[in-house]
Amino acid sequence: MSALSGPDSSGPALDGPSFSGRVIVVGVTGGIAAYKAVEVCRRLVDAGAHVVPVMTQDAEHFIGRTTLSALCSEPVQTSLWDEDSPIPHTQLGQSADLILVVPATARLLGAYAGGLSTDLLTNTLLATRAPVIVCPAMHTEMWEHPAVQDNVVLLRRRGVVVVDPDVGRLAGGDSGAGRLASPERIVAAVARTLGPRDLADLIVVVTAGGTREPIDAVRVIANRSSGKQGYALAAEAAARGAVVTLISTVELATPPFVALVKVETAAQMQTAVESLAAVADVVIMAAAVADFRPKAVAVNKLKKHDGPPDIILEPTPDILAGLGMVKPTGQILVGFAAETDDLVDNAEAKLRRKNLDLIVANDVGAAGVGFQHDTNAVCLLRPDAPMVTIGLTDKRSIARAVLDSVVDIRRGSRS
Ligand code: C5P
Repeated sequence: MSALSGPDSSGPALDGPSFSGRVIVVGVTGGIAAYKAVEVCRRLVDAGAHVVPVMTQDAEHFIGRTTLSALCSEPVQTSLWDEDSPIPHTQLGQSADLILVVPATARLLGAYAGGLSTDLLTNTLLATRAPVIVCPAMHTEMWEHPAVQDNVVLLRRRGVVVVDPDVGRLAGGDSGAGRLASPERIVAAVARTLGPRDLADLIVVVTAGGTREPIDAVRVIANRSSGKQGYALAAEAAARGAVVTLISTVELATPPFVALVKVETAAQMQTAVESLAAVADVVIMAAAVADFRPKAVAVNKLKKHDGPPDIILEPTPDILAGLGMVKPTGQILVGFAAETDDLVDNAEAKLRRKNLDLIVANDVGAAGVGFQHDTNAVCLLRPDAPMVTIGLTDKRSIARAVLDSVVDIRRGSRS
């Protein structure tokens, strides 16, 4: 591979969104955060996108053309006059599925808001009908200046997606608002803008992780659930436009555009789920909820020298069955069945007993499936549709298939 050819993009990255076949023009402007654009481009290419880099002249003070070219799908362009063609400014904008400006300086925001085409990037931004995302990054004083804020309001009003900067350490060593949003948040904004919007504005509640039931002040009864499948479902639902709340017992990074509620026990999960489920369009119980918990919890740590304790267990509430009993009209209730034997029969029985619309059954005894793995293989069962089997794949792809099924159920119930 030559230094200027793109990296191998033979398939989308595991566990992320897929931008396969999509053309994304990435504009890089001259701010110190320009070096972070390289990482964003790499992630977009890994997710299957064809990334066309455009730099302003000032950006060249911060990163080299070779670096950006090597990590994108094409060599970088900086000038209206690079090519023989007299119309590169319209070609780029017309062929793009999306234009992403990262970082966007105050100058770029001002020029774009004012309709000034002064270089290849601003020409491309004006000569396109593709959606545009800008990711501002600058010093706090500049970001908070009324001129910049007015431009941001104007661009938003015109439908431009503005990924607000974070508050954090800035190039001068001080701290404040203006730090470029994280690559995760930028890629998630791309997924939300490019992906199907078939869950737009739906209220989706997802549970994830295994509950931990206290025995005493330090010990718990837990299970091996990593929460990865629930997090993948939350991320995919958010990417498809849903308003997502994730109720979780684990410490994974919260997916962008997802609200997190942390819980530990089945009782805490029940309180959180029930208050949100009342107004939810979709509830997905991916958590591995303990079936039993100690009846009495010792306030202090049980002493080893007192010998093995007799721990008396009591059943926990079945949250999902409870939701199934009071399910509002139109709500879609999704359960999981982690089984080690009689997978389909057991899952089918749970589907009916708990009044579910969909159950995701996985054979947790099989290699690479279920708890703790990055991959999964599942059967999707519905009361009145043929079973769908999905072979071993990454958990984001499983999430995609589960949500495709949810969309299909909604379509069916409305027709
Ligand atoms: O009956 P079983 O526990 O196998 O059913 C699994 C499904 O029920 C999962 O979706 C899990 O989140 C949910 N569940 C629950 N409350 C429990 C136990 C399981 O909501 N106490």
